[in-house]
Amino acid sequence: MAAFDPEKEIPRHIAIIMDGNGRWAKDRGKPRREGHRVGAASVEAALETCGEIGVEYLTLYAFSAENWKRPETEITALMGLMTHFLKEKTPKLMANNIRLQVIGQIDRLPESNRAALEKTIAKTVNNDGLTLVVALSYGSREEIVEATRKLMEKAIDGEVDPGKLDNELFAQHLDTASIPDPDLLIRTSGEFRISNFLLWQISYAEIVITNTFWPDFRRQHLLDAIGEYQSRQRRFGGI
Ligand code: IPE
Ligand code: IPE
Ligand code: MG
Repeated sequence: MAAFDPEKEIPRHIAIIMDGNGRWAKDRGKPRREGHRVGAASVEAALETCGEIGVEYLTLYAFSAENWKRPETEITALMGLMTHFLKEKTPKLMANNIRLQVIGQIDRLPESNRAALEKTIAKTVNNDGLTLVVALSYGSREEIVEATRKLMEKAIDGEVDPGKLDNELFAQHLDTASIPDPDLLIRTSGEFRISNFLLWQISYAEIVITNTFWPDFRRQHLLDAIGEYQSRQRRFGGI
């Protein structure tokens, strides 16, 4: 694997499918919740590393639309950990000039979570360092269908001319409207799938899959993934 080189191109936007918390815990004879808890320290490490090397956007897949299928005890534990993390880490987000955004069906989240999120989003709105985008109750197909619904409504109202619909106009109706496409997509825990994450946006992302479980994924693992990205030749269909 090619080593990270701070002189080479730094991906502007990194998206991570943070996977393997449950298996990490199972390997240690611990409850799944413990994997999620330790995974929060990996989130902090990713934020620090991205801030330090000048990544502009970090998108973290924290909870998928399909994750609502999990047992209620696990969902409650995850939501509790997320609210706790937000409350505890907001001063650090402020100190490091990090802005928080969310994508996904936020209205499906418990009220206490939404309140904590909205508070931190409002507080960090003027920070202009790293943007942390958290995908919560996020499903890419749901996002695409919702964008289509908005466009159809605008067409009916005469605000949008169907003949003028193009990639750019469509992208403006996604949750990620203000966010550039990811350059690098990382999935931890060795699973080779996308799991309904940013299907539209990753059209030309470089994909790095690592066997490391998310709770073990720290600074050096992230730098290694970026090193791998830096060794790739992106062609975007050209030669
Ligand atoms: C990722 O770890 C966290 C979420 C999906 C919320 P998992 O909980 O999926 O862990 P594994 O894949 O079962 O090991
Ligand atoms: C994807 O992981 C979702 C998140 C990391 C939040 P999952 O563990 O839910 O994905 P599958 O079920 O293995 O595809
Ligand atoms: Mg998983």
